[in-house]
Amino acid sequence: MRRLSVVILAAGKGERMLSKKPKVMHEIMGKPMVSYVVRRAKELLPTKVVVVLGHGRELVESYVKEFDVECAVQEEQKGTAHALLVAEEHVRGDDVLVLYGDVPLIEKATLDSLFSFYEKTRAVVFMTTEVENPLGYGRVIVEGDRIERIVEEVDATPEEKKIRRINTGICLIPGELFGLLKKIKPDNRKGEYYLTDICRIARQGQIEVRAYEHPNPSEVLGINSRKELLDANITMKDRILEAHLRSGVSFLDRNVYIDADVTIGRDTTIHPNTYLMGRTRIGEGVTIGPNVLIRDSVIHDKVSVEGFVMMEGTEVETGAKVGPFSRVRPTTLLRKGVQVGNFVEVKNSRLDENTKVNHLSYMGDSEVGKDVNIGAGTITCNYDGIRKNRTIIEDRVFVGSNTELVAPVRIGRDAVVGAGSTITRDVPEGALAVTRAEQRHKEGYGRKKQCAE
Ligand code: UD1
Ligand code: CA
Repeated sequence: MRRLSVVILAAGKGERMLSKKPKVMHEIMGKPMVSYVVRRAKELLPTKVVVVLGHGRELVESYVKEFDVECAVQEEQKGTAHALLVAEEHVRGDDVLVLYGDVPLIEKATLDSLFSFYEKTRAVVFMTTEVENPLGYGRVIVEGDRIERIVEEVDATPEEKKIRRINTGICLIPGELFGLLKKIKPDNRKGEYYLTDICRIARQGQIEVRAYEHPNPSEVLGINSRKELLDANITMKDRILEAHLRSGVSFLDRNVYIDADVTIGRDTTIHPNTYLMGRTRIGEGVTIGPNVLIRDSVIHDKVSVEGFVMMEGTEVETGAKVGPFSRVRPTTLLRKGVQVGNFVEVKNSRLDENTKVNHLSYMGDSEVGKDVNIGAGTITCNYDGIRKNRTIIEDRVFVGSNTELVAPVRIGRDAVVGAGSTITRDVPEGALAVTRAEQRHKEGYGRKKQCAE
């Protein structure tokens, strides 16, 4: 078995992105584009994955380190051949697959086909494709599948510019031919060390360079501008949707955004305009939407998240119901059978089994027991201007409507709080607490007022 290493070139600045952020850190469906390339590289089970860093090096390095890859630094961006040579120490003697940090849509099947082609030829192989508009790409001059040379846009003659077969940049170099890169000189318009010059040098040494033609250009083209970033995002969004469809998830419309790492169980139905983001996990038989945003949350089986819910950093247990129009913030746990309803905000709280907060309430920094009923318009006054305080409501408490619970405060189990109360002291178990002013009547007052007018 020969050893294979993958080198991902990611040192370039990405001028056309007009951004302070290094290009490969721009996100596609919630993840930096370089992460998709690293994942593809790792799927091939190579000896090593080496990422060549340059622009925005610290940021990219601290991100890719999580994936257990090696990094090489190209201090100055002197061209693609120079970038690859920077990784030489890491890949010593291995066959090298070159991928690009800004070509994130490449599919596993495509790399597999490239490899079968490579296994047969054992030559230097470049992946090529035919495009409508080749502007900006290296044009590939071939005889059959043998590459004569690749000429970059700036160096091409008007005739060569008409060629629509382009270099994707993705290539394979046998270990014993890696040294050819050292013969490349920056003798071109840009004064760069072109990796594509390996074609000319190989031919001088009677060594063959082959073209592997890939039929689907959209997958192997690079991202250079915000427009291409948007297009890639849309492509990835559809791919993610298709994968969920294949695994038993239903959608009413394609207008949904599901980040790459989100998981969804079977028989879950997603209504339009739903955003499932970050590290969200959704169980089986769940209904979500329309117009819902869920980020970094865990939703268990048979939960219903109705329209216009925004939920972050929350765990929702089996059979609970949230929405419509609820806002649930980190760090919240909604246990089995809980109901959080219209215009309710919950933050940093735990609501135990079968508790209901159905209308117009704020539960912040609270621990609520089982079978509790929170009446409409209940507010936990959790902030005293200096610090956040907790509200504890024990099992089977009934809180009447329009109540303020001034924290820190505890309502003992089975207690009842009368509507309209402002509770500032702990309520004992089983007690009724009422703080509202008594109702008084002035007989005949209404009629007298009408006569005066
Ligand atoms: C390159 C190819 C071109 C091909 C095109 C496909 C060369 C000489 N040209 O051109 O034939 O059609 O890609 O997209 O190889 N990079 C570094 N260090 C450098 C220069 C580049 O790491 O010094 C990285 C960039 O971050 C990027 C990739 O290499 O990921 C391609 O670089 P770029 O400058 O975009 O090359 P192109 O001019 O597009
Ligand atoms: Ca490019």
